[in-house]
Amino acid sequence: MILQLRTLAELSEFITSQKQKKRTIGFVPTMGFLHKGHMSLINLAKESCDIVIASIYVNPSQFNDSSDFDNYPKDEQKDLELLSNNFCDAVFIPTQLEIESIPNVRVDLGTLGDVMEGRSRPGHFEGVVEIVHRLFKAVSPHKAFFGNKDYQQLLVVKKMADSCSLSIEIIGASIVREPSGLAMSSRNVRLSKDIRNKAGFIYETLSKTNLFNIKESRAFLTDNEFELEYLEIHSFGDDKRLFVAGLLDGVRLIDNVKVN
Ligand code: PAF
Repeated sequence: MILQLRTLAELSEFITSQKQKKRTIGFVPTMGFLHKGHMSLINLAKESCDIVIASIYVNPSQFNDSSDFDNYPKDEQKDLELLSNNFCDAVFIPTQLEIESIPNVRVDLGTLGDVMEGRSRPGHFEGVVEIVHRLFKAVSPHKAFFGNKDYQQLLVVKKMADSCSLSIEIIGASIVREPSGLAMSSRNVRLSKDIRNKAGFIYETLSKTNLFNIKESRAFLTDNEFELEYLEIHSFGDDKRLFVAGLLDGVRLIDNVKVN
């Protein structure tokens, strides 16, 4: 079974011993209820780091909707098995009290914090910055891995690491999809079986959308009972992407694709 670290003292002892052995540490922060998307991050981390640590912590401060927090799925036993089977070396599972003992930080996200998820979920990115900064301080990894599904979160974390002069390489990994095309997410379990099987239409629509047919795509998503929050193209540096968010069957889903 995987090594479980439940206090900051246990974590610190483990990290110190690994660093004394000059091992590079890869870190995969998660909120649990792990799936193949998370395992792709563990496997990517294993390719370039000597040791991989995951964390499981459902961070209350990043939920702008308390029922989303209350209904967030949990299965620690299954998570531990998946991590062990994928040769993750250790998992940090802190309590809220331990996490909150680590000093907090606030970062000015500029316009990045005002669009899409920043606009739809007030306070969400402040909560993400807070927890990821605290976890980075506790784990002090060489590299940290995040999924491209939450692409704006990846950019927020990069900006935070930069603003706080943390020497941690932040790596984004390709989106892993269910057979239907639906981007993997812990929340997918809350979709009914029928709707989950049909939910690939969101990715299919993204793949067919361009600057000229974006209005038609919005209408198509809405006609298919997707309560659309946004379907927007944004450029970050050279990277141009089409982003979508909305509710399907009462479950909030996000996705994005690269636009050429
Ligand atoms: O992407 C997530 O699962 C969470 O936002 C993260 C990065 C673990 C912070 O709580």
